[in-house]
Amino acid sequence: MQDHSVVTLGVADISGVMDLERLCFRTHWTREQFLLGLERKAFRILGIQERGVLIAYCAFSVIAGEMEIMNIAAHPFHRRKGLGARLLSEVLRLCRAEGVAEGFLEVRRSNAGAIDLYKKFGFMQTGTRKNYYPDNKEDALLFRLGFQDGQDKGLNAQSSPKES
Ligand SMILES: CC(C)(COP(=O)(O)OP(=O)(O)OC[C@H]1O[C@@H](n2cnc3c(N)ncnc32)[C@H](O)[C@@H]1OP(=O)(O)O)[C@@H](O)C(=O)NCCC(=O)NCCS
Repeated sequence: MQDHSVVTLGVADISGVMDLERLCFRTHWTREQFLLGLERKAFRILGIQERGVLIAYCAFSVIAGEMEIMNIAAHPFHRRKGLGARLLSEVLRLCRAEGVAEGFLEVRRSNAGAIDLYKKFGFMQTGTRKNYYPDNKEDALLFRLGFQDGQDKGLNAQSSPKES
């Protein structure tokens, strides 16, 4: 079985993050956006590597006690192996340790897999942004997780590790 430990990514890992972004999203951030964000510590990126290649990552910010999931993705060949859950679990563990009060994210209405993942960890839908995504005018669903109001499902939400 592969070691799929979660590691903190830095500037040297941006190329791998961008490769995954291109594979996983219709619109992506530029190298400069990643570079500036990391250098200014506007967000953090956690990743999972296999034989030195990045196969999953999650970018998130923590500002004034509020966490926001900016992006989470697993390589198409490595989906449904628990990588997304492992990353999200680690982000939420860090948030608990840092006393973060709330977590937020937005997701395309059609993204049933990601929505299922978020709900497993206790995120609850709080609203909708109509026609939010410029490429196809799809709605964004807004989700929130309150760390101190019993929503946080903690480690119970983590998918059991699966063989790769
Ligand atoms: C969303 C994404 C990150 C999930 O990553 P993953 O590593 O495949 O997810 P996991 O294997 O950890 O799945 C954990 C749980 O999430 C849910 N889930 C994940 N993908 C799913 C899918 N395609 N269909 C239904 N449920 C899904 C399931 O509840 C799953 O648990 P299970 O496998 O025990 O049923 C991945 O599908 C992806 O990269 N998608 C493209 C990028 C994207 O849309 N990101 C989200 C932006 S908001």
